[in-house]
Amino acid sequence: MSAAWYWCVIHLLFVGILQRNRVDGLGVNWGTMATHKLPPKLVVQMMKDNGIQRVKLFDADQSTMDALAGSGIEVMVAIPNDQLQVMTSYDRAKQWVRRNITRYNFNEGVKIKYVAVGNEPFLKSYNNSFMNITFPALQNIQNALNDAGFGEIKATVPLNADVYNSPETNPVPSAGRFRSDINGEMTQIVQFLNQNKAPFTVNIYPFLSLYGNDDFPIDYAFFDGISNPIVDNGIPYTNVFDANFDTLVSALKAAGFGDMTILVGEVGWPTDGDKNANKNYAYRFYNGLIPRLAANKGTPLRPGYIEIYLFGLIDEDAKSVAPGSFERHWGIFRYDGQPKYAMDFSGQGQNKFLVPAPNVQYNPQKWCQFNPNAKDLSKLADNIDYACTFADCTSLGYGSSCNALDANGNASYAFNAYFQVQNQNEMSCNFEGLASVTSQNISQGECNFTIQILATFASARPSPAALACLTVLAFLLLQMELFA
Ligand SMILES: *[C@@H]1O[C@H](CO)[C@@H](O)[C@H](O)[C@H]1NC(C)=O
Ligand SMILES: *[C@@H]1O[C@H](CO)[C@@H](O)[C@H](O)[C@H]1NC(C)=O
Ligand SMILES: *[C@@H]1O[C@H](CO)[C@@H](O)[C@H](O)[C@H]1NC(C)=O
Ligand SMILES: *[C@@H]1O[C@H](CO)[C@@H](O)[C@H](O)[C@H]1NC(C)=O
Ligand SMILES: *[C@@H]1O[C@H](CO)[C@@H](O)[C@H](O)[C@H]1NC(C)=O
Ligand SMILES: *[C@@H]1O[C@H](CO)[C@@H](O)[C@H](O)[C@H]1NC(C)=O
Repeated sequence: MSAAWYWCVIHLLFVGILQRNRVDGLGVNWGTMATHKLPPKLVVQMMKDNGIQRVKLFDADQSTMDALAGSGIEVMVAIPNDQLQVMTSYDRAKQWVRRNITRYNFNEGVKIKYVAVGNEPFLKSYNNSFMNITFPALQNIQNALNDAGFGEIKATVPLNADVYNSPETNPVPSAGRFRSDINGEMTQIVQFLNQNKAPFTVNIYPFLSLYGNDDFPIDYAFFDGISNPIVDNGIPYTNVFDANFDTLVSALKAAGFGDMTILVGEVGWPTDGDKNANKNYAYRFYNGLIPRLAANKGTPLRPGYIEIYLFGLIDEDAKSVAPGSFERHWGIFRYDGQPKYAMDFSGQGQNKFLVPAPNVQYNPQKWCQFNPNAKDLSKLADNIDYACTFADCTSLGYGSSCNALDANGNASYAFNAYFQVQNQNEMSCNFEGLASVTSQNISQGECNFTIQILATFASARPSPAALACLTVLAFLLLQMELFA
């Protein structure tokens, strides 16, 4: 049996046992800041195989959109922050809608539901750069959508949770207000969202609450209960997610929009790059979060259904690490589409590994390592720095999966990471004579010296067997729909 047919059979088995009882609101964020991206069609297949029905993007890239066409998956497309300025022109906003929305509006096209205008534009670290342009861009995009006859597509601004807070003297959810320095902008934005029946989108990260504060009670980041709940007007809060969400509910109420729909645009837990970023904690986090969503538990101030997008789908080894080394490790899947831990999207606690990306092709079994016989070590540090500037070395840091390596191991890790990013080009494993290629797997324990996916894989055509399999699959899915 060929590999493709083998995959096909496995695949059909998985699809057959897919639970139909899924968390309705569950979506994922699909970021693409990776040196080696999985082919978009494969990523869409992964989402379908795992019953993921919604996706949030960070742009409207054509290859991504083409792959989503006909999938039935609901999509939030996005306008990156660096394009907000041009969207303050209504003509440019109309042009954007023509090119990125109208274009995909055909039979079997892309099911666009939302447009994200900017991404966390009011983060304090942006120094107010997007302060006066976010609201005009939001207005223009929604108006252009309305004018083009796409009023059912809602423009929204995914905001970081630090756009609101409670006073330090009364740190309870019910005292939530928008941050005073942006209160004017926030009020305009929520008024406009309300006029257009668009949702408020917020990113909530219990992991970051913990990361930023050594005194943070760790159990409060999860959903298993704590011994000293924070009591607010008689309501006990046992996890920071609920407390944070309800702080926003209170801020909206104070602004006069207490009933506005809230989407959680990002929530998740990373698995490497920090002492609290690991698979056990990620497992614990999702194992608490997803059953609550499935049960439509909501929060104390907003019981019921919440639409939510997990962050993220796949690791991104080229993401900025300005906020921290964990940034490249948010995926529920590794860089190559392999699941990292068990989950259950139906929220029934039947955790098992998600369906992996099928048929991924890798570079050969070759690694680059530090040459222990190298004589002149004076340039070692510079070479490691160089490698880590262009490749991902975040697993080497304190509390990370490769932190236990010795100095030689560190050098090998860096050299190998660079060699793999360069698709194993022989020239890229020299480092002024300090490195050489080996065919031995030099991974050590928990520390993976990974091999990248094949560069040409992204453009590989499906084999005839895979096509035949897809036909069978399509037929079976059709039957499932008809007799469901
Ligand atoms: C919108 O579409 C245009 C034309 O295809 C493309 O150049 C642009 O990058 C798209 N915008 C985004 C945010 O992806
Ligand atoms: C914000 O300001 C700080 C300090 O002035 C500077 O280091 C940083 O680069 C600025 N960030 C942006 C995005 O402009
Ligand atoms: C925003 O606009 C106001 C009013 O025009 C101006 O006073 C303020 O400096 C602007 N802020 C930024 C960050 O550009
Ligand atoms: C290896 O590199 C990491 C990250 O740069 C550093 O924290 C650690 O001390 C290094 N280990 C040795 C033995 O040099
Ligand atoms: C290398 O070995 C590690 C175990 O140390 C294993 O997890 C990994 O899959 C191996 N890599 C390859 C490419 O075989
Ligand atoms: C290393 O890779 C193997 C698969 O090859 C995976 O099972 C294991 O979880 C990985 N370890 C880490 C720390 O990512």
